[in-house]
Amino acid sequence: MKTLTAEQINEIRSSVDIVDIISKYIPLTKKGKNYFGVCPFHEDSDPSLSVSPDKQIFSCFSCHTAGNVFTFIKEYEHISFIEAVKMVADIAGINVDIDTSNKKTIKNNDIYKIYEIGQKFYLNNINTQFGKQAKEYLYKRGITDELIKEFEIGLAIKDSKALSNLLTKKDFKDKDLIDSGLIVKDERGFHDFFYDRIMFPLHDTNNKVIGYSGRTYYNSDAPKYINSKEHVLFKKGEFVYNYARAKNECRSKNTVIIMEGFMDVIRAYSVGVTNVVATLGTAFTKEHANIIRRLASNVIICFDGDSAGAKATMACSDILLNFKIVPKIVRLEDNLDPDEYVLKYGKDKFLDKINNPISVMDFKLNYLKNNKDMTQTVDKAKYASEVIEQLNKIEDDILREVTLKKLAKETDLDVGFLRDKLEKKEVKEVIKPVKIVKTNKYTMAELGLLYYMLRSGEVIKMFDNRTVYFPTKEFRLLAHEISYFYKNNGYINEADFLSDLDDSMVKVVGEVEQLDLKEEYTNDLIIDYINAIEEKNIDDEINRLSKLMVEETNEEKKLVIAQKIIDLKVRGERNVG
Ligand code: UTP
Ligand code: MN
Repeated sequence: MKTLTAEQINEIRSSVDIVDIISKYIPLTKKGKNYFGVCPFHEDSDPSLSVSPDKQIFSCFSCHTAGNVFTFIKEYEHISFIEAVKMVADIAGINVDIDTSNKKTIKNNDIYKIYEIGQKFYLNNINTQFGKQAKEYLYKRGITDELIKEFEIGLAIKDSKALSNLLTKKDFKDKDLIDSGLIVKDERGFHDFFYDRIMFPLHDTNNKVIGYSGRTYYNSDAPKYINSKEHVLFKKGEFVYNYARAKNECRSKNTVIIMEGFMDVIRAYSVGVTNVVATLGTAFTKEHANIIRRLASNVIICFDGDSAGAKATMACSDILLNFKIVPKIVRLEDNLDPDEYVLKYGKDKFLDKINNPISVMDFKLNYLKNNKDMTQTVDKAKYASEVIEQLNKIEDDILREVTLKKLAKETDLDVGFLRDKLEKKEVKEVIKPVKIVKTNKYTMAELGLLYYMLRSGEVIKMFDNRTVYFPTKEFRLLAHEISYFYKNNGYINEADFLSDLDDSMVKVVGEVEQLDLKEEYTNDLIIDYINAIEEKNIDDEINRLSKLMVEETNEEKKLVIAQKIIDLKVRGERNVG
């Protein structure tokens, strides 16, 4: 396998324009030197992400994410750094021979490896004689061999030591085996968490197996589904089933359909609806929304047709609305889930449903009318105020107006009267002039010095010559990273430098980038920063020594400390003067 040199990575980076690339993902508007858009990395609807064509970096003044073109793609696509480099190279038409299967972003490689082995094992089982009954069950449900293959469906056999025996022979740490959730250890020793179940693998956004849902396949008292327990790589409230498989289709259609269960997704897929994902029957979370919105800007909720599904649709809509996503809704008759619906009514009727979703407000109107007798004044009044409450969550003014008209008709109330009940939506300024709070002059000096170190080799040299000690740890680490980069490369360029950094350090650069300073600096300004930092160090040291002196009982030692304090004070005054 080949790795790329820093020069090659920089060459790839400088062969594209960050503005072009980011605007493929989010709309950008030019304002002054920079471009602005809605930051995809936190919940927002204001354009707080700024992209600098000069510096070839982006930064968000709200969540402080920052980085170069690779960082953006890595975060947005949930892929590793090297995969992001590969993607940019492809866009730039540069041929690079790198093996991206060796991902280094992995938090715990061994858990992935354990799942790889488990997956091979389960996949193999279903094709042996032990898998006969399971396959019959799947066939009966219309899950064909092709679907079994596509969704990598496997089998955990009855022998509850089968996988443990295999895995404990390899040299995995017991802790990783247990953490993976596939192996349990108790007084009986190691045994399998899943046995005698059809295994539906759960893939992460990079298409790696990180968990399972195991289903019973004949009558038994056991729970229908058992899921892997959570571990570092698998959190149910952040898990989106079918993300990787559906990604391209969602992007090209700019629409993603959300369902409740993975059987629904598999069924939809079987009739050609492939831009579908599912939560695992858990409550829809903000984290789900944040992942799903990266797939497409149009979202269709197609949950189960029962009343629980309707309730979940209400909750899911509200979370999406908070992200300024106005979803469309599909409701299925007869309390059916999408899987059952396709089986009962066939492909065409299902496609018809999916292609004609209703507006979220129409869904809510129906939902709120449930169990109400609209000929009764009390119910009608309750209904009106409930609809108004829901309308307050909507920012789309056309949808608000249309719904108001409908409500007026249904309740015989005056539209103007109803409109007065709505909260006024304030008109937002396009770009919020947010500045970071400049805590104090010392922090400002640290940030300022870093700001110019990121821009000038001369300033880095001043930092090196004076051996400046940054009082704040994260700033200190960043300063050393900059100095180290400069020493190695003989130049400083923020965009190239960002390729080298850990995620946590990138955040610190993001903070520094929030400063609204001129691009040019004077030597005096830099010296002022350095002096302020030194003054702070001296102050800190004086404070430390003063405490020490108070605690010291030996008079002679007390004197030595006192002298040190006096020397420091003199040094401090010389600096200021
Ligand atoms: P459902 O009960 O709607 O399952 O749960 P389903 O999709 O109709 O599955 P089949 O048709 O009975 O096989 C929806 C989702 O909730 C989770 C599963 O992830 C399922 O896909 N679930 C359900 C569990 O985790 N445990 C359970 O016991 C049941
Ligand atoms: Mn079902």
